[in-house]
Amino acid sequence: MKKTLASILAAFLSLSLVACGGGNSGNSAASGSNDQGGGAASSAAGQASGESTGKKVGIAMPTQDLERWNRDGAYLDEQFKAAGYETVVTYSNNKAEQQVNDIQNMLAQGVDILVVAAIDGEALNTVMNDAGAEGIPVIAYDRLIMNDNVSYYVSFDNYTVGTLQGQYVINALDLNNAAGPFNIEFTAGDPADNNAGYFFNGAMDTLKPFIDSGKLKVVSGQTDFNTVATEQWQTDVALDRAQNVLASYYADGTKLDVWVCSNDSTALGVAQAITSDYAGGNSVIMTGQDGDVANLRNIKDGVQSMTVYKAVANEAVVTLDLVKAILDGSTVDNSLITGSNWGFECAYDTSSYFTSEGHNCPSFLLVPDVITADNMEEKLVTPGYYKVGADGYLEATNG
Ligand code: GAL
Repeated sequence: MKKTLASILAAFLSLSLVACGGGNSGNSAASGSNDQGGGAASSAAGQASGESTGKKVGIAMPTQDLERWNRDGAYLDEQFKAAGYETVVTYSNNKAEQQVNDIQNMLAQGVDILVVAAIDGEALNTVMNDAGAEGIPVIAYDRLIMNDNVSYYVSFDNYTVGTLQGQYVINALDLNNAAGPFNIEFTAGDPADNNAGYFFNGAMDTLKPFIDSGKLKVVSGQTDFNTVATEQWQTDVALDRAQNVLASYYADGTKLDVWVCSNDSTALGVAQAITSDYAGGNSVIMTGQDGDVANLRNIKDGVQSMTVYKAVANEAVVTLDLVKAILDGSTVDNSLITGSNWGFECAYDTSSYFTSEGHNCPSFLLVPDVITADNMEEKLVTPGYYKVGADGYLEATNG
């Protein structure tokens, strides 16, 4: 039987309190997290609600510093445990070498399958080869890993995330009708994250015709991914670069109309820079991704315009059903989707993602959604992802 969203959220409530606090309270959820320097630990509590499968799943998340990964880790851990799997959950402080060690420990602990959200999509080669040599299947979770031992990829349609951001800008400025020109800047994500290029390209490809026609002007001239990228998606790094761009190109009173940010942690930095260093009085159109609580506040306050939301609870549902199919020896293809009763869209894609040249990685891709001040209650509160707090802002359902 599939778990309802409500039951997943209820469980997330208790788990994420631990995850977000980063403490080590000694219960099974906390011991499964080692972002604060503790070692990876098995948590076998799962057998409580589901009949034990006798199988162990290694779940490697990048970091607890970015809000969404706390949600992912908690949802995955809870769902696998409830389905009767033992879990080993690690967070690796955004350090690629630490993630290698964490995954090596998982292999040493005898996991039957790995679910990995890579910190650096190219740094896991040796340990992925080790997994392959031991016959341990690997699911690349959310971020693709550049190694042919990866069996499947579960993610959202990453390019679409960027096109949604670009399309939002087109609509907000009415670019097909307005004369312009409008001034725009870009901030992209971590170059080590395989997704970051997809997000950036999706947005850039959508807006490029307007840049080429002169309706949009990138005043800094910084349109190259590597120039606008943000190491490890860090808010401070995005803040620094935004301050430099504002000081160099906008201090003379040049109007800034739009800042396209690939995700919420970078949008937070850019918003801070605009608040402190932008001389203009207009509100700047700003994009983001993830629906982080601080950014939802900014959206309600009109500081950020939108975020692209990815329902990670659903990403965890797909991952669980995929793991079951793999470990049961069932055929894995589009029938996983048609045979499921998921209440959300997902596509089976065998042509978009490659772990090496010519080596396609079969992918299950979910559909992201645009959140604005106008629809956030309908899209986020009604389905139970967030609740409205006493101050009127959205907060995680764990309160
Ligand atoms: C991406 C992920 C985004 C965002 C970003 C920063 O890989 O798909 O949702 O969270 O990393 O962590």
